[in-house]
Amino acid sequence: MGVPGRLHGAAPRAFDDHFLRAIDGGVTQAVILASGLDTRAYRLGWRDGTAVYEIDQPGVLDFKLRVLRGAGAAPRCALRPIAVDLRDGWAAALDGAGFDTSRPTAWLAEGLLPFLPPDAEEHLLREIHRLSAPGSHLAAEYFTDVRRALENPMMQQNAAIMGIQMTDLMSSAPRPGLAERLAELGWHTRLMTVLQEAAAHRRALSSTAMLDNIRHVFARLR
Ligand SMILES: C[S@@+](CC[C@H](N)C(=O)[O-])C[C@H]1O[C@@H](n2cnc3c(N)ncnc32)[C@H](O)[C@@H]1O
Repeated sequence: MGVPGRLHGAAPRAFDDHFLRAIDGGVTQAVILASGLDTRAYRLGWRDGTAVYEIDQPGVLDFKLRVLRGAGAAPRCALRPIAVDLRDGWAAALDGAGFDTSRPTAWLAEGLLPFLPPDAEEHLLREIHRLSAPGSHLAAEYFTDVRRALENPMMQQNAAIMGIQMTDLMSSAPRPGLAERLAELGWHTRLMTVLQEAAAHRRALSSTAMLDNIRHVFARLR
């Protein structure tokens, strides 16, 4: 298996575990930011009465719903897809869909932050914080250096195969460290690398420039 395959095994498992910890802790509300083709609403054992909000672009949400319905898949929660741009106005859309600020939330931003300019990332963090009741959980993935990620041969090769220009999609403008920003907002944070996560599951994964550039932050609001 190549590096992307191994990465896409270790990282999603770590984020599954993030939700499982929140479920164990009694959380019944989750928001998956930039959900893409995420199927956790269908895969994980959510508590009764759990609402899972998936936020992404309308075309992405429609495509996934169509494919999963066609395959006979049913969500294991109250699934609430929200088609909105995460650079603007998403909190109001969440509110309109029934989001409850009095309940702790499990948030996930997997594969999202490099696509947001730094000011949109900062706005996103502040909104997550504003909407989070004590006991909320947050997990997020980011590159320590987006510019280095864009120059990485593996990233360039994958982009060429898909026929997309990653520099048009990702923002390499410098930004504050995510864990530090969350700590400033009062979250208790834990930083992990993909290599550490793979080792925790006894999976062999050797260091590469791409993997070493990725961090996962797991945060809890007390
Ligand atoms: C790399 S995919 C990650 C999908 C999923 N979270 C995962 O890890 O498999 C990035 C996702 O971000 C979404 N996205 C990027 N910018 C966005 C924005 N401004 N508003 C809403 N969604 C956005 C894209 O549509 C895409 O589904």
